[in-house]
Amino acid sequence: MQFAPPAYIKHQALLAWVAKVAALTKPAAIHWVDGSAEENESLLAQMVAAGTLVKLNPAKRPNSYAAFSDPSDVARVEDRTFVCAEHKDDAGPNNNWMAPAEMRGTLDQLFDGCMAGRTMYVIPFSMGPLGSHIAHVGIEITDSPYVVASMRVMTRMGRAVYDVLGSDGDFVPCVHTVGAPLTAGQADVAWPCNKDTKYIVHFPETREIWSYGSGYGGNALLGKKCFALRIASTMGRDQGWLAEHMLILGVESPAGDKSYVAAAFPSACGKTNFAMLIPPATYQGWKITTVGDDIAWIKPGADGRLYAINPENGYFGVAPGTSVKSNPNAMAMLQQNVIFTNVALTDDGDVWWEGMSKDAPAHLIDWQGKDWTPEIGRETGRKAAHPNSRFTVSATQCPSLDAAWDDANGVPISAFIFGGRRSSTVPLVFEAAGWDEGVYMAATMGSETTAAAMGAQGQTRRDPFAMLPFCGYHMGDYFKHWLEIGERAEHAPRIFCVNWFRLDEDGKFLWPGFGENMRVLEWMVGRVQGKASARETVLGWMPDYADMDWRGLDEVTPDQFAKLMALDTDAWRSELVLHGEWLAKLTDRLPAALAAKRAQLSETLAN
Ligand code: GTP
Ligand code: SPV
Ligand code: MN
Repeated sequence: MQFAPPAYIKHQALLAWVAKVAALTKPAAIHWVDGSAEENESLLAQMVAAGTLVKLNPAKRPNSYAAFSDPSDVARVEDRTFVCAEHKDDAGPNNNWMAPAEMRGTLDQLFDGCMAGRTMYVIPFSMGPLGSHIAHVGIEITDSPYVVASMRVMTRMGRAVYDVLGSDGDFVPCVHTVGAPLTAGQADVAWPCNKDTKYIVHFPETREIWSYGSGYGGNALLGKKCFALRIASTMGRDQGWLAEHMLILGVESPAGDKSYVAAAFPSACGKTNFAMLIPPATYQGWKITTVGDDIAWIKPGADGRLYAINPENGYFGVAPGTSVKSNPNAMAMLQQNVIFTNVALTDDGDVWWEGMSKDAPAHLIDWQGKDWTPEIGRETGRKAAHPNSRFTVSATQCPSLDAAWDDANGVPISAFIFGGRRSSTVPLVFEAAGWDEGVYMAATMGSETTAAAMGAQGQTRRDPFAMLPFCGYHMGDYFKHWLEIGERAEHAPRIFCVNWFRLDEDGKFLWPGFGENMRVLEWMVGRVQGKASARETVLGWMPDYADMDWRGLDEVTPDQFAKLMALDTDAWRSELVLHGEWLAKLTDRLPAALAAKRAQLSETLAN
């Protein structure tokens, strides 16, 4: 076993921690990841030989691979995710909790020998541009080469991180295992994981992450949801900044003025698509640029504005629904150097997923390795690609990448947008009357659950700020933090709410969505700039049909717009009951300002 660390690592506490984790997990070898291209090539080749990756046809999809997970390991596991604060109340009703000492006892047993027969990889990574004052460093220990290859795309990963750390820099220690130790002579499987036991654990006070049993996405790429949201949100609470489940995009008008907005939609509710939007043909001279598609770290600047960075370096995006029609930028960026997970394979060695083309190919190998034809799909209801199948690709391949996406100081945010997946009740768009009203709307927003997490789909639940699964501390304190950030910021962004997903009587989307969302975005930016008109309503400011640009979109008639914007008082009274049930869970940590907003809204709706 080769334990010797490379000489360029000068951080003694880090070396001691790695040695301790190795003594516990007992790997066959340690690989100190340097992030080089050669290292990456060799890991990819090793995974192809092991059956973890299938190399796609280089003529169709150069330098690209497909991975297929165990059917039990296809999404985040919210019921197996824990925030082990010292005091249960600090984790809040929004998190699963176990006493830290008890959880450490459980983890000590689980991690004892968990890497037997495997190589332990030590991954240095930075969330955010290396050395940025908004960025933070993590070290992930993992026994999954798939995680190493994915982290190389999703984070700034490699040897240069050790230069930033020096001999005593801060880092978030992240330990991950697939939880499938190998006994001598035992053959490995293509996607090792632990089918029965999974633990995704955070210790907010010591800023540690321990993940056991899953190899998938947010459970295993620990820089993403575990660090950049759950741990970072607690860091932000303590240090006066925000870690959010938000995309960041730039809007440039034909006149050349440019604004940045950040938008929080729950998992699989449209962030990647909105971040890469291509405006309709009639929007000559308008340009949308992408800073990030999933996570934003936002810090107050000296000028009273809020500045945001995308802490990630790539996209781990939902494949189904992605097409040249819905998201041409994504299709262009997926032409090469991609790792796909749980998509279907075509007979000529390429990939396919539901929604990529109107008609499915005549024959596919589905994500579970079985033959699939359109007939089989129709008869059995089986999807060719898993609904949470994903692509992993470097940000630099995105054609709409913003020139400042890598700026260490971030970009100034002019508006926050909150949206859920709501088949009824919530209008297409409205602007909150002020910061506190916006925080109330975000704090009470609902959304229908999706395939991004294990469990039932399509059930409406409260998903405040699209952060329900990701806030690392008590949601009541989080709301208080948001109220305070707005109070302190001299130029706080405007707050808007959107809903792309309202349905008509026949269950069809009322709103065409995707590129057409530009029309709503133009109105919102117009509001910020004092150019767009609106009417005052119970919920805030709403556009009339005449306040938006409809050129080239005959399908949304004034009648249909009225349905999209309809404010059904009865439905909102019921909605307020749900708000009340949710807010009551926060007990004495619910900020009084939000309780007051609800009372006010109830009263207005009663009249
Ligand atoms: P995470 O990566 O899970 O955080 O998701 P995300 O918010 O980035 O979601 P994404 O943009 O990948 O969209 C998820 C699904 O919603 C895809 O199947 C999209 O095709 C669909 N979708 C995105 N935007 C729209 C829209 O404007 N209208 C409709 N009807 N569907 C949309
Ligand atoms: C989400 O579920 O919000 C994602 C995918 O962006 S994961 O990384 O698995 O969390
Ligand atoms: Mn997400």
